[in-house]
Amino acid sequence: MTETGNEKHGERAIACWKSPSNIALIKYWGKRGNQLPRNASLSITLSNAYTVTRVEAAPLAQAGTGPEVEFRFEGEPNPAFAARIEKYLKQLTAYFDFLPDVKLLIETGNSFPHSAGIASSASGMSALALCLCSIEAQLKGQQEDDTFFRKASLISRLGSGSACRSVFGGITVWGSHPAIAGSSDEYAVQLDFELHPVFRGLMDAILIVHPGEKGVSSSKGHQLMEGHPYAEARFAHAAKNLSELAGVLKSGDWDTFAGIVENEALSLHAMMLTSSPWFMLMHPNSLMIINEIEKFRKQTGTKVCFTLDAGPNIHLLYPADEAERVASLKETLRPHCHNGVIIEDFMGNGPEKLSCR
Ligand code: DP6
Repeated sequence: MTETGNEKHGERAIACWKSPSNIALIKYWGKRGNQLPRNASLSITLSNAYTVTRVEAAPLAQAGTGPEVEFRFEGEPNPAFAARIEKYLKQLTAYFDFLPDVKLLIETGNSFPHSAGIASSASGMSALALCLCSIEAQLKGQQEDDTFFRKASLISRLGSGSACRSVFGGITVWGSHPAIAGSSDEYAVQLDFELHPVFRGLMDAILIVHPGEKGVSSSKGHQLMEGHPYAEARFAHAAKNLSELAGVLKSGDWDTFAGIVENEALSLHAMMLTSSPWFMLMHPNSLMIINEIEKFRKQTGTKVCFTLDAGPNIHLLYPADEAERVASLKETLRPHCHNGVIIEDFMGNGPEKLSCR
């Protein structure tokens, strides 16, 4: 074992984190450089949809030749995920000097089935990044303070852009924006102001319209914004939507909130429809559901709205005190869902460090 100051290279270290997924209200779609966003995005950190990851770092017999990686997803080796993670870890040697000296055993699993069609890269990459930062903190005798979480967010971003927003609870923003103090393209930050009570504990019912893989990977999708005829207008529009949304999150104006959130979701899909090649990621049932939501809202005045990721599933957003009225809407929508599946989630407090053996 070598020890310099508080550094304990050559020791075994273990870390275990549970990290949630998130749903963007202002969408990240288009990137530049090394995983930097073309516009600032804003998301709600979820609670029930999460990944648990355990990482054990053991010293290599020959220091400087690593990192070696053994990867298990839900107890089984998974070559596709392992290849992505190995590539990711190679670039992280610039951020973690212990990496070339260790073998990493990475074990991970999700709270939701892969077939649910929920993007797992945000929860998965943030859980892994937090584990790596905890291992570094153990080896160097560092605190898990604000600097720790900022680094965890930056490291998450290098794995998957949206993952950097999962490192904090509540509502987070990634990308430099004048309305958000401290915002940065490098990592996400939490909102620095009090949310209006109507948005605290916001509910998200995820209507599974079609399970499984998306029609286009996120990385391919982001690339389609390069040279897209509407790209610059889209980035400017997202920035304007974020400015307005920041105001609404303070004032509590639900109708304006719903208008902005739905406009963002449909703008994202409009970008895919008008890219070359184009992608239609909504399913006929996604449209049926959107029309039903609009009809229900007009008839009942319920505070409810929708958003979508780059796929066919619909996230139904509503304040906790509208749960009873929204329950009847969900029953109307359930027949349009794959096997009637609706995953109930809500705004959460962010990642949790678990004690692990
Ligand atoms: C539509 O974060 O999955 O969900 O950085 O290539 O991993 P990579 O992309 P990813 O893109 C997410 C796109 C989105 C919108 C969002 O979450 O902001």
